[in-house]
Amino acid sequence: MTTTRKMKAKKHNAKTRPAGPWGSNVVVEFEDEIAWVIMNRPDKRNAISPQLASEMNGVLDALELDKRCGVLVLTGAGDSFSAGMDLRDYFRATDDVGPIERARVYRTNGMWQWRRLLHYPKPTIAMVNGWCFGGAFTPLVSCDLAIAANEAIFGLSEINWGIIPAGVVCKAVSVVMNQRNALYYVMTGETFDGRKAAEMGLVNESVPKSALRKRTVQLAKTLLEKNPTALRQAKIAFKFSAGMSWEEAADYLTAKSDQAQFSDPERGREQAMKQFLDEKSYRPGLQSYHRRRLRR
Ligand code: ACO
Repeated sequence: MTTTRKMKAKKHNAKTRPAGPWGSNVVVEFEDEIAWVIMNRPDKRNAISPQLASEMNGVLDALELDKRCGVLVLTGAGDSFSAGMDLRDYFRATDDVGPIERARVYRTNGMWQWRRLLHYPKPTIAMVNGWCFGGAFTPLVSCDLAIAANEAIFGLSEINWGIIPAGVVCKAVSVVMNQRNALYYVMTGETFDGRKAAEMGLVNESVPKSALRKRTVQLAKTLLEKNPTALRQAKIAFKFSAGMSWEEAADYLTAKSDQAQFSDPERGREQAMKQFLDEKSYRPGLQSYHRRRLRR
């Protein structure tokens, strides 16, 4: 990570990427059923502008049905994940517009940052490669899993410029961090690194930056081996049931389980039962069943 203010960071060239509904602020690369969704404003430390938010909505819509995307990895170009909301283009530029127009800009951003990502139909991994501040915590938490570079620097820096972590940042951090840790960083604005983020549960793990992509690919490949219908329903079930009473959760999860089986084109449960009970060809405690039909 550089701290040289004027150093130009490498920007992904959208022209060399496969065509899609995205533009230059977000680029997508496909590799072995992994879609790398890259916030692409490295000169601005991938700060989230209204244009980036708008492109991201197009990307999420498109990848939902794109067979090249089995797992979505969200990351940033250059040495940053994202420096949070763009102070100039997102905040200052909307200070003087009317409340309806401002609400529209905020809604466009909330759409990708959590409304879509939180329950995205495909598994999502945030790969935190560098700076991660403020508003960037929302998509980070909304992704199902997260891996950071040890060297990545995180900060809830809102307090440093006299505002609160709004959008839904306070809510997002409360889902994955305990109150003592969250309030410490909300109230001090101190930074912390990838190791600390892992220790606090903000990310699943941290690895040296040199190993970050390899470890992310490894995790994505583990997910790609699983039944995609079960994965989709499991993550949605987990996130919704967390806010329910035990009684409500029991009823909801029974219905969700029936829905998952009913809507599974692979008939995974039957295949797995047969392979374990009849064929004795796998042990479910130690591995996934052998999928005979790959469809997403
Ligand atoms: N909004 C707008 N522009 C930004 C942002 C941002 N959040 N972050 C960086 N930039 C711009 C800088 O203005 C600068 O632009 P310029 O080259 O046109 O002058 C460029 O990105 C590079 O920034 P530097 O500060 O020179 O980069 P450096 O590597 O030294 O520092 C750091 C990186 C620590 C991320 C620093 O840019 C910074 O503190 N950014 C703001 C972080 C922040 O507080 N984000 C808002 C969180 S609150 C919220 O999201 C609601």
